[in-house]
Amino acid sequence: MPKVKLHVDGTIVEQEVKDNANLVVLAGIRQFPKLKYGCGMGRCTKCTCQVISGAEALSPPNWKEEKMLGDKVNEGYRLTCQLTIKQDIELSQENISVKPLKKQSTALTK
Ligand code: FES
Repeated sequence: MPKVKLHVDGTIVEQEVKDNANLVVLAGIRQFPKLKYGCGMGRCTKCTCQVISGAEALSPPNWKEEKMLGDKVNEGYRLTCQLTIKQDIELSQENISVKPLKKQSTALTK
């Protein structure tokens, strides 16, 4: 079973998951703690993570990730909800604030 190491909110969550697990699905049923996520469908970017190690075992970014993250995919950023975990991986959700590219706010600032 792959081991996942997640850096989030100043802590590290380490947990084994089943082959081909999706961490957002596990978080949704309270089987993976602390993971930040939202829609689960590649639309909100709340689940954005940076892959620290193990990226070689992931599928290439899909069209949703490319659409929502743009050039960030080339810096190792991924949408956790779009990932299938097949091998050991280390991810970080520390200090990540990615706004969806397609919905970037044009809100006025004072
Ligand atoms: S949970 Fe919304 S994009 Fe992944």
